[in-house]
Amino acid sequence: MRIILIGFGVVGQSLAKLFIKRETELSSLYGFRPKVVAIADKGGIAVNQRGLDLQRMLLIKAEKGTVAADNEYGNSKMSVFDLIESLEAEVLVEVSPTNVKDGEPALSYIKSAFKAGKSVVTSNKGPLALALPALIELAEHNNVYFRFSGSVGAGTPILEFAKRCLHGDRIISVRGILNGTTNYILTEMAEGRVSFEEALQKAKQLGYAESDPSMDIDGIDAACKLVILANWVMGKRVTLKDVSIKGIRGISLKDIEAVAREGCTIKLIGSVNGRLEVKPEKIPRNSPLSVGGTLNAVTFYSEFAGEQTIIGRGAGGIETASAILRDLLDIKQELATKLLS
Ligand code: HSE
Repeated sequence: MRIILIGFGVVGQSLAKLFIKRETELSSLYGFRPKVVAIADKGGIAVNQRGLDLQRMLLIKAEKGTVAADNEYGNSKMSVFDLIESLEAEVLVEVSPTNVKDGEPALSYIKSAFKAGKSVVTSNKGPLALALPALIELAEHNNVYFRFSGSVGAGTPILEFAKRCLHGDRIISVRGILNGTTNYILTEMAEGRVSFEEALQKAKQLGYAESDPSMDIDGIDAACKLVILANWVMGKRVTLKDVSIKGIRGISLKDIEAVAREGCTIKLIGSVNGRLEVKPEKIPRNSPLSVGGTLNAVTFYSEFAGEQTIIGRGAGGIETASAILRDLLDIKQELATKLLS
């Protein structure tokens, strides 16, 4: 499978490392041989239609800050749109930083890929939160695949759990922790008695926070994920502007200590129950949503199967890369089935 990779930050590099580390296994178990034919990062582009050497790309990125510095494959002539439109590839993996103002440039990259007959895998929440219904339609119209399981819950298959495992039931409401960074901060404050700022610094160092951490702290990241869930698993046609959002900026150590005396913790909770809302809530310690660290926990209330909670690590480069790999394998399977039919 030929892949164009847009974005070579924490997630993009983790995906490259996963491809290198699991090369033999991916080939023998799944017949999956990913060939990354181009990488674009903030500094430019590297292209090799025969497949880039990923070890070399990681090294150049670490040493020079951009893959465009590669003296053989760095390419200053092509734009990202040229890559998407003219390079032969089956899939575009879009993992550039999230922009929730207008979703760009990722939104245009994804649309161009669909129009060029390329499937797309993304963990980029901006385009999804702003235009998911339209993007799904465009992918269908162009007869290509669109997967984004890493956009909610990182490696934890929250979207698939609801979409596939609860298939046939009707999900009435959803409630949960959808942001790893804020959960990490609130947990550190409660258990380590560290300040908000200290906890945030640690979350940044560990690669959990968004490049603009106010996305996490102000609840926007959680709201994006809520929109994705509402569209994808509940069939709603909503975007970010439909969510009422309040983040955790105002939460102090004192607030956390006060609720602890009542046997509760404070969590940033996203919910779809008629309306879409993100806000800090008091959660009893014995609730399934009372999970710590970067864990995400989402409870689905369905009409017939009842209430289920899925819990797992909700942030991190390698975790998100594992979801992207899952999506790529899914597309590979779909393409193989299509060929046989
Ligand atoms: N910043 C996000 C979080 C990353 O903390 O949950 C995963 O989407």
